[in-house]
Amino acid sequence: MITLTNVRKEYNSEVSIGPVNLEIPAGGITSLVGPNGAGKSTLLTMIGRLLGMDSGDIKIAQYDVSTTKSKDLAKILSILRQENHFITKLTVRQLVGFGRFPYSQGRLTAEDEKIISRYIDFLHLTELEDRYLDQLSGGQRQRAYVAMVLCQETDYVLLDEPLNNLDIAHSVQMMQHLRSAAQEFGRTIIVVLHDINFAARYSDFICAVKSGEIVEFGTPEQVMQDHILTDIFNTPVKVIEGPDGLLACYH
Ligand SMILES: Nc1ncnc2c1ncn2[C@@H]1O[C@H](COP(=O)(O)OP(=O)(O)OP(=O)(O)O)[C@@H](O)[C@H]1O
Ligand SMILES: [Mg+2]
Repeated sequence: MITLTNVRKEYNSEVSIGPVNLEIPAGGITSLVGPNGAGKSTLLTMIGRLLGMDSGDIKIAQYDVSTTKSKDLAKILSILRQENHFITKLTVRQLVGFGRFPYSQGRLTAEDEKIISRYIDFLHLTELEDRYLDQLSGGQRQRAYVAMVLCQETDYVLLDEPLNNLDIAHSVQMMQHLRSAAQEFGRTIIVVLHDINFAARYSDFICAVKSGEIVEFGTPEQVMQDHILTDIFNTPVKVIEGPDGLLACYH
């Protein structure tokens, strides 16, 4: 379980996030949705301790994010940031190998290499594994970053817009993989998504953030309602029954 208690971040006198009180259950996928600038990345990076909070507490299972050592936290939690500024003179395989760093401290074992190959293969990067990051398309590079994060194999996985730049097939595969990681290995996955239909199809819970506050938290069935989505996204949305569940329509 991840628990946020009175969490606040004040960037300046005009922009502040929170206070946020939120409990994200252990296991399953929780999607963070909401308009640009709502505070999704701010919340995610505070949970991942990449950004300090001004007040409040965040707990991941029994670990207090503010006091747990980084090297211990890295074994239970991995995070993909929205923007990645890695040195481009790294190959795909080297980048993915960084995911094993909390275990290997730079000396990769045969088992680490196997795990690296598994995620490279899973994200269809095998033929590209020796390419440098600046020699990839946007979607291929995004898949390499996601492979690095998944390769850490942590119980808690935070992903900020992992579907960025991905085509439909890769987006579907990514969400199916996240769902099986949650179901088979009991992982807790928090994912920022802009596509509400992907969120509805694959999440156990949807958490809507707007103007620095949590405005809705519930199952997809609870959140997928015309007036709720219209309010969250500031644009008319109609929910219809699709072939595989509820679908939000907007244009
Ligand atoms: N370093 C910063 N300094 C000042 N303001 C910031 C900083 N980072 C973010 N903000 C502001 O905080 C608010 C929340 O930003 P955040 O990145 O969390 O939004 P988001 O929900 O992730 O949006 P998006 O969907 O566009 O990624 C925005 O108003 C943004 O302009
Ligand atoms: Mg963001």
